[in-house]
Amino acid sequence: MKNRDPRKDTLLINAGRSKEYTGRAVNPKIVRASTIVFDSVADMHESGRRRLGPVEYYGRRGTSTTFAFQQAMCQLEEAAGCFVYPSGTSALTTALLAFLNQGDHLLMVDSAYEPTRDFCVGTLSEKGVEVSYYDPLDTNSLVKLIQSNTRVIFMESPGSLTMEVQDVPKIVQIAADHDLVTVIDNTFATAYNFAPIPMGVDVSVQSGSKYLCGHSDIMLGVACCSEKAWPRLQQISLELGLCASVDDIYTALRGLRTMGVRLRQHDESALHIAQWLSGCDEVDHVLHPAFAACPGHEFYERDFSGGNGLFSFVLNGRSSAAVAAMVDGYHHFKLGFSWGGYESLALPAAGLSNRKFNRLREDQTLIRLHIGLESIDDLIEDLSEGFKRLNAAR
Ligand SMILES: Cc1ncc(COP(=O)(O)O)c(C=O)c1O
Repeated sequence: MKNRDPRKDTLLINAGRSKEYTGRAVNPKIVRASTIVFDSVADMHESGRRRLGPVEYYGRRGTSTTFAFQQAMCQLEEAAGCFVYPSGTSALTTALLAFLNQGDHLLMVDSAYEPTRDFCVGTLSEKGVEVSYYDPLDTNSLVKLIQSNTRVIFMESPGSLTMEVQDVPKIVQIAADHDLVTVIDNTFATAYNFAPIPMGVDVSVQSGSKYLCGHSDIMLGVACCSEKAWPRLQQISLELGLCASVDDIYTALRGLRTMGVRLRQHDESALHIAQWLSGCDEVDHVLHPAFAACPGHEFYERDFSGGNGLFSFVLNGRSSAAVAAMVDGYHHFKLGFSWGGYESLALPAAGLSNRKFNRLREDQTLIRLHIGLESIDDLIEDLSEGFKRLNAAR
């Protein structure tokens, strides 16, 4: 794995903090607005002419708080443009809608976040978009799935729950050879640990509800674009009237400043706990991309500069009562969706039965953990007590 670039830490501190947005304060101002008032008709026309840029024109299109965040994200992702959405899911669905029309074909990674797949099965299929699911690890088969009407390849790396790491540069090359648009869900890595745009990806989406914010108290989504993709994504996002609250945007901007330190701690604690779990009799295997046994580990080593608090472990056995006894009794690990906050979470996996390339056996159960910022000794004690309940209930 490449060393983390220390300059990214400096960038996290300075990004989006232009004087025009901060004035004399350290942080950008929170500017809430629907109506923007103009000095004159000429000013209104001039603002209208420049309204695709960072110009206050109408609240829905953003205020200086939004522009500061967009500037920060573009600097971090080395992107030509960035749109901010009310959730990661709306960023993902808009990025797909932007580049797909009736009769088109989408190549969707099989290990995608479940609501992304729901959108393919639901709205995209209803609108006449054909979808094929590809094995996240098999680029040879991916090439064979390309049709004359294929328009988009969608990636998510590592995959949701099952953690398969994709060969993104290779997939980008395949897309370039066939003139296809590439979209990636980069929520796991954030641009801090893996920057898709310089690698040639067209749209890099992340849920800002996770590490960008870091405190589990907002919903937000971000899509950063290459030069080629930005005009289309901006157009559709504006036409759909999508916008996020400036208070939430400000919260994400504040979270950005500490994201590097948090990620390093999450990563260190998660690696320690994943190692400990690997030695537990109850655990069949651990799916952590830093471990050689994790599918696609070599691409993680090559392309990522670090990890985070998220990984999964696999238990032999499918007794839902025993798993419930284990998880329900956790003291520190809370049971809940999402991740990326300061707190630890445990999630028994569901939704894997939809997958075409599921590497889990029928008789196995996957538990996803998010390792928060608590003491690792407390977390290990919690997991250890959980195994006692699991064994007693089996
Ligand atoms: C990988 C991934 N992508 C996207 C999302 C969606 O983000 P949001 O909850 O902000 O809609 C999630 C949420 O859990 C996720 O895990």
